[in-house]
Amino acid sequence: MKHLTLLALGLCIAFTSVIAEAKQSKEDDSDVIYDEDKVPHYDLPDVLVTSQGKRVTTAEEWNTVRRPEIMSLFSNLIYGRIPEPESPLQVKYEVVKTDPEYMNRKGTRRDIKITFSNDKGEVDMLILVFTPNNVEGPVPVMMKHSFNSTHSKRDFEVRSRLSDRFRNGWPIGKWFDAGFGFVVVYQQDLVKHNDVEFSSGIHKLFYKTGQSFPKAHEWANLSTVAWGAMRAMDYLETDDTIDHTRVGIMGHSKMGKAAIWTGAQDERFALTISAQSGCAGAALWRRTSGETLEKMVTRFPYWLSRNAWKFVGNEDDLPVDQHMLIACIAPRPVYIHSAVDDTWADGRGEYLSAYHASPVYELLGKKGLSSMDTPPLNSPIMDGDIGYHTREGGHTISDYDWDRFIEYSTKHLQK
Ligand code: GCU
Repeated sequence: MKHLTLLALGLCIAFTSVIAEAKQSKEDDSDVIYDEDKVPHYDLPDVLVTSQGKRVTTAEEWNTVRRPEIMSLFSNLIYGRIPEPESPLQVKYEVVKTDPEYMNRKGTRRDIKITFSNDKGEVDMLILVFTPNNVEGPVPVMMKHSFNSTHSKRDFEVRSRLSDRFRNGWPIGKWFDAGFGFVVVYQQDLVKHNDVEFSSGIHKLFYKTGQSFPKAHEWANLSTVAWGAMRAMDYLETDDTIDHTRVGIMGHSKMGKAAIWTGAQDERFALTISAQSGCAGAALWRRTSGETLEKMVTRFPYWLSRNAWKFVGNEDDLPVDQHMLIACIAPRPVYIHSAVDDTWADGRGEYLSAYHASPVYELLGKKGLSSMDTPPLNSPIMDGDIGYHTREGGHTISDYDWDRFIEYSTKHLQK
């Protein structure tokens, strides 16, 4: 009996500590900076001064010298560069399903399988393409980097019907009403969410003989996800129901990071929307507020390239910060979204990044952000080529956010 009582007591203690551990999430780590007064002093690298110390004063110098230089730094030091495969990739497109009566005939859904192959193997990804039925001619589309599978019926139905209660639901009907199509690319088709082996996805097709892991400067997770969207864009260029000159890219959280990296690299994307992308997205590294480089590489070692690890605790030594990546999207419009309770994503740092990208927008004749102050809640900045809003609440895309994204996209992508 005594033994039984002790056993019950032991189980009870073990259970309580499991619960306590579950409640103690990464946001509660005692060393996380949330207080603005605790953000260290930092100096951002000047987006308009080259590595040789020369000030950039013309659009041509930006386009031919500084922008390529910055992109190469982000490729090699932060996200990882996409290597050339030893033997060229073959790419095949296949429409595997068509539903012309999608959403009570409001639109057409097509599932497109994209297969990549070479002598190292074969990998495919499935993208979903939704176009409105009542709009004439090639339509503009919003492409979304999705957390959720495009393969499973259940997942798809949940995501396509709910927008507010579920993070990352897709309010496709609203996009149809605004005259847009919607395209979904699934993040895990080419690489697993937190892959630490890189042996089963697309990487194997790119390894040189004898290689079995990406080199320190080569593509890790976010670069791979971004690559997937670029390949989806290749497909859209062949699809005459879509106006491929009016394609936006968006994503939330990790997918927001991927969206910024995609939009910066691939100038075919006419608009970029980052929803609460935070660390490695819109937020500035040097503020070390909320999630830091250290927190990120500890929990997700290969979202970034291995070279990025070298700057843990040394963010000041980075030759870039995230305002420079947003600047590389210029002159194309970009929209950044934060929320006050999403402190892990450092909304203030997201706004400042957008603000400090503004000199490049201005140099290219576009309208950036004029004030260093974050605008009040629910007061979206819609009139320029850098848009922004913050709202109350936490880490999700709410209906309010979707409406702003549609409004901003309409302004920039509708004729
Ligand atoms: C984690 C991670 C964030 C990321 C988020 C998400 O919280 O630390 O960087 O944005 O997951 O993708 O939802």
